[in-house]
Amino acid sequence: MLYVSYMHVRWIGGVPLRMSKAGFAFKVILVGDPAVGKTAIINRHVSSSFKENYIPSLGTNITSKDYDIDSRYVTLIIWDIAAQERFDNVRSKYYTGAKAAIIVYDVTRPATFDNVTFWFEDLKRFVMENLQMTLIANKIDLPAKVDSEAGKKLASKIGAKFIETSAKTGENVERLFQKLTRDLLGAVLGSSQEKE
Ligand code: GTP
Repeated sequence: MLYVSYMHVRWIGGVPLRMSKAGFAFKVILVGDPAVGKTAIINRHVSSSFKENYIPSLGTNITSKDYDIDSRYVTLIIWDIAAQERFDNVRSKYYTGAKAAIIVYDVTRPATFDNVTFWFEDLKRFVMENLQMTLIANKIDLPAKVDSEAGKKLASKIGAKFIETSAKTGENVERLFQKLTRDLLGAVLGSSQEKE
C-alpha cells in the first residue's frame, strides 16, 4: 500500500475544513474509556510516534490520512472522541455520518473492558446503520488482566472484528487501519456493483 499523504486538522466545532482529493472519504470514530490509548493509536498510525505521558484529550481531534488501495484513492477522516465528552447531544453530533467505529479498551484495566458495552450501546443509540465495528484490545506490550478469549467473545457478541494492538510498539496498528480501509472500500464497491 502506498500512503499518499497525511495531515492533522484540529477540530473546534462544525465540520472538518478540508475536502478530500480522494475518490472515497470515510469517517471513522474512536471511542472508549479515558487513557485506553485512542490518541496513541492514531499517533502511531499517522506519525509513527508514541508519547509515554498522558494528556487527556479535550473535545475531538480530527486527523485525516490518504491511502492508495489498488489504484483507488481513499481518505480516512479519523475522529478521536475524548472519553470525557459526557454530553449526549454533543457526542451524537460527533457520531453522525460515521462509517466505522473503533471501540478501544486497555488490557491492563478490566474496568475499561467492562465499559465496552456502554460504548457499544451509546453508538447503537445514534449510528448503527452500516457501521463497521472493530473492538481493540490495546496495550498488549504490558501484562494483560483481560484475556484474549474474553475480548474475542465480546467482539463476536457485539458484531465487531477483534484486533489486539500496542500503540507503544506499533504491533497490529497498521493492520488495523489497512483492514478497516479495505473493508470500507469493499462495502462501497460491493454495493455499487450490486446496483449496476
Ligand atoms: P483520553 O484522551 O482520556 O480519551 O485518553 P486516550 O484513550 O486517548 O489515551 P491516550 O492515547 O492519551 O493514552 C493514555 C496513556 O496510555 C498514555 O500515557 C499513553 O502513553 C499510554 N498508552 C497508550 N497506548 C499504549 C500502549 O499500547 N502501551 C503502553 N504501554 N502504553 C500505552
